[in-house]
Amino acid sequence: MSIFRRPALAATMARQLLEPSVLDEGLRSGLFLSGLRRTGKTTFLINDLIPALKAGGALVIYVDLWSDVNASPAALVHAAIRTTLTDLQSPGSALWIALKTVRGAKLEGFGVKFGFDLDRIGGAGGVTLAQALTQTVDQAGTDLVLIVDEVQHAIASEDGNQLLLSLKAARDAINTRPGTPGHFILIGTGSHRALVNELTARRNQAFAGATSVPYPVLDGDYVEHLLQRLADEGAGPLPSGATALAAFRTLGHRPEELIKALRLLQAQLPPGASPEAHLPVIAATLRSTAADAELMKVEQLGGLATAVFERIAASDDNARRLFSTEAAAAYSEETGRTVRVDEIQPAINELLAANLIMRRGHGLYAVTDPFVQEIWREKQAWVRKPE
Ligand SMILES: Nc1ncnc2c1ncn2[C@@H]1O[C@H](COP(=O)(O)OP(=O)(O)OP(=O)(O)O)[C@@H](O)[C@H]1O
Ligand SMILES: [Mg+2]
Repeated sequence: MSIFRRPALAATMARQLLEPSVLDEGLRSGLFLSGLRRTGKTTFLINDLIPALKAGGALVIYVDLWSDVNASPAALVHAAIRTTLTDLQSPGSALWIALKTVRGAKLEGFGVKFGFDLDRIGGAGGVTLAQALTQTVDQAGTDLVLIVDEVQHAIASEDGNQLLLSLKAARDAINTRPGTPGHFILIGTGSHRALVNELTARRNQAFAGATSVPYPVLDGDYVEHLLQRLADEGAGPLPSGATALAAFRTLGHRPEELIKALRLLQAQLPPGASPEAHLPVIAATLRSTAADAELMKVEQLGGLATAVFERIAASDDNARRLFSTEAAAAYSEETGRTVRVDEIQPAINELLAANLIMRRGHGLYAVTDPFVQEIWREKQAWVRKPE
């Protein structure tokens, strides 16, 4: 798989974060990027943004809250921080060498001041996250950027909310000091725009007031790059750039889906037929097939799970009252059998385990992939449309 890189975009973002102008200083309160699933967020972080931040002299810690759905967000973040701190204490590690020799950081005796017990960061009797990160910034003498991929998972649990509060405490402890040798910057990404926005828009959230922006999706220059590579390989028939771009947009700016569409085009195009006319049709079909696979999983979980999913998918914001007697009556009607209230939680658990829905807070759920929700709604509208 060849990755289309976006170094200029990454360098601009890194500069805004590390050397903010007066107007960009707010980014130090935290930057949240939201974008639909499979649009290349993680790829951009790993291949473009992290290298740009490192080139700007920052110490970068990356953690993906989706890497292990069974582990708590705090445990994952602590583990990532622990790994970095261990490297900083280990003369000879790549990180130690980079900071020491390239940037002249004073790493001798790292962590001695607090008697760091790295196994107990943020835990009872251990050093707090704020202490550990302050010490890190001071000794490394540079900015510390913590990147939390799929950060919205943190707001669904008590443990995750505590984690956000301790990260906020760390940010405030470090950044408010005059003459601090570096800043602490949190970057969060998520697939669920409403949830990510909530992180910064709600006053009771730890990161209220931080900046939330859409992830910059791949677009025309990516599509040109892909077509050029295909042309270089002698692949044919190929659509024009404009037609391919329109298909890419239909497919929600998802590279994998565009590649699938181009593969189908090559396999199915009758001799002499025009790729220009066929690609839009293929793209429109693929768009709903992608969501169909997910909707099929819902159906396989049975009638009750389907009814619950539909109630969640139909609600605009917070799906509440999934457990009420009124809800049970509605499920009974949908499924054609009597649904008891105590059957509802197990159905929700199955939907959660299949990652079709996610928890948003106590008793609140949302469809995990807004794209799937959108297609589900399109289908409903279509089913209900009078002839
Ligand atoms: N810049 C790129 N060039 C080529 N392919 C890309 C690029 N970015 C993403 N892709 C491809 O798109 C797919 C999704 O990418 P990625 O996992 O980075 O997206 P994501 O938004 O983080 O997805 P998820 O919602 O699953 O976390 C991958 O197959 C990846 O290889
Ligand atoms: Mg990702």
